Amino acid sequence: MPAAPRAINNIQTVIEQLSVAGSDQQRLEIIESVPIDLTELRPYHHYGSSSYGRNLIYTGVGFEIILLCWQPQQYSTPHDHQGSLCIMKCISGELTEQRYQLQAKAVNNCILSPTERVTFCDGEVTSITDQQGLHKLGNETAAEACSLHFYFPPIHSANAYNEQDGSQKTVLSVFTSEYGVKTAVTATEKVKLQSVS
Ligand SMILES: [Fe+2]
Repeated sequence: MPAAPRAINNIQTVIEQLSVAGSDQQRLEIIESVPIDLTELRPYHHYGSSSYGRNLIYTGVGFEIILLCWQPQQYSTPHDHQGSLCIMKCISGELTEQRYQLQAKAVNNCILSPTERVTFCDGEVTSITDQQGLHKLGNETAAEACSLHFYFPPIHSANAYNEQDGSQKTVLSVFTSEYGVKTAVTATEKVKLQSVS
């Protein structure tokens, strides 16, 4: 009797390949080339109660992987990446990225100048560094959307900016789930800690 076909876990393949990647270009090519669909990400597919879901899949010395789950009309705030390389792969639905250049006016009070605006759909990949600017992401559609975010190295906080008045604050990473297990975040913590993507 022939053996049943072995299920291919592509996210594990990506983790193994990224662990030995030697350059940002290689990292980008690995993430672009390996197809990943929502079926294998089911343990991490959770939406947030008051914001988009942030689901930690993997974290290591060199990088981390987070699945973001967006309900219609949910957006991040404009933010930087604290020196990390951020690579995003759209897994399902459509997500729109608005980029900005930051013009410092005074401490904690800046002007954000909008630059590129691009919409991504299934399988498409983009990347950003602080040298390239800030960005915000959002789901402008009427359907749910999911995106994988890879950070090299892992990112634990970010500077978030108010689009209207340019005020800046530091926000910490919080997760809707970690390694497939939903986290318990108190209402007080939700007020204090805002998500970044
Ligand atoms: Fe981001």
